[in-house]
Amino acid sequence: MSEAGDVPAESSARWAPDSWQQRQALQQPSYDDPDELARAGTHLAQLPPLVTSWEVLALKQAIAEAQDGKRFLLQGGDCAESFADCTSPVISNRLKVLLQMSLVLVHGLKKPVLRVGRFAGQYAKPRSADSETRDGVTLPSFRGDVVNGQEFTAAARRPDPQRLIQAHAHSALTMNFVRALIDGGFADLHHPEYWNLAWVEHSPLAAEYRKMVAGIGDSLRFMETLAGPIAGFSKVDFFTSHEALLLHYEQALTRQVPRHPGWFNLSTHFPWIGMRTAALDGAHVEYFRGIRNPIAVKVGPSVTPAQLLPLIDALNLDDEPGRLTLIHRMGNAKIATALPLLLEAVKRAGRRVLWVADPMHGNTESTSNGHKTRRFDNIRGELEQAFDIHAAAGTRLGGVHLELTGEDVTECMGGARGLSEGDLDRAYKSMVDPRLNYEQSLELAMLIVRKSVGGATVAGTNSE
Ligand code: PEP
Ligand code: CO
Repeated sequence: MSEAGDVPAESSARWAPDSWQQRQALQQPSYDDPDELARAGTHLAQLPPLVTSWEVLALKQAIAEAQDGKRFLLQGGDCAESFADCTSPVISNRLKVLLQMSLVLVHGLKKPVLRVGRFAGQYAKPRSADSETRDGVTLPSFRGDVVNGQEFTAAARRPDPQRLIQAHAHSALTMNFVRALIDGGFADLHHPEYWNLAWVEHSPLAAEYRKMVAGIGDSLRFMETLAGPIAGFSKVDFFTSHEALLLHYEQALTRQVPRHPGWFNLSTHFPWIGMRTAALDGAHVEYFRGIRNPIAVKVGPSVTPAQLLPLIDALNLDDEPGRLTLIHRMGNAKIATALPLLLEAVKRAGRRVLWVADPMHGNTESTSNGHKTRRFDNIRGELEQAFDIHAAAGTRLGGVHLELTGEDVTECMGGARGLSEGDLDRAYKSMVDPRLNYEQSLELAMLIVRKSVGGATVAGTNSE
């Protein structure tokens, strides 16, 4: 049980956008020129923000509704965005997959879907080692395009503060294009054909998807015949998220605004703390406790209730609706033992969180030819178990967090087309973790509908 006395004394201490610098900050690059870093930070702090405080607060309200079971969160996108992939087809294809998945979910779950992209800022990656050695040469690890280049040369791997500015610019370009597409009617439910991807025609799932789209079109026309055009159907909201890992970047985009009190991270709507940087006394938790955004924390299999409850207190002492999302990423083999204890403890403590499943990060493995991959069966298995475990605990699985792409890649094995280890060489493009391709993503969306409609929700065991 968590009580006020468990809260570390520091939580009530003075907070400022730079107070994290008094704590241990894991997963930060070592910049070789502090003055150059400071100049880049000053420059970044003068540039306009990428999102606004009222969008951030609207998302918090929508997450509060998801906590009450009125919405389902779909959060997805690349493991790591790259500057090179800041192109029209990559951005629009990613949007198409997310829109198609959300259509499947809206249709099946009969509730609004909250769409959050892992994009427009997902440029920093945690790494298991600070350096990498090849043929006797040791260089800093690649930490994402906001830090250094992937190429294995001393020049590319040098952490370069100018990349902070470039990451902001590429995020703004991405954001601008997404906003323009959505404002221009790209997400209009009357025109789901806008979201078709070339290979949908050949997919084993195409028939089921087309039937759903036709059904939605019929219902929409029927309602509009009775009631006239329904404004809400011509647009959908899209929010952005990224792992707020590189704290110099996040600090520079942490702002005060005229009409809302407090500090907002205006680099994204919905930042999250990664599993490796979620220590209670660490710099990331210190930074996150002071911003007003809705925030998420990744929770891995080694986290105990005794660790999780003080973390909830540190990040959301007042139990504010919509503030805190917990993304569990346990792995197919561990979720059955690791998750129930946490659900039970949070429920007993009466804490308000949105529980979201990330069935990707606990299921990463390496093949014999060195590819990082994930088996679709493990991803599906973890997600199915997540629904069952929540139903048994009397808690609610309110969303999913996925790594996916609209490109026709072969990075995860299995799925409707049964991709094998041999297929991985054909189209393996990810810079870091393996992503679901278009078909595998849609298959998961269909599975979510089957699990939540066929299981807990209908049986009525999932109410809190
Ligand atoms: C990620 O989401 O890409 C990631 C590194 O996740 P985690 O912190 O859960 O390992
Ligand atoms: Co990843």
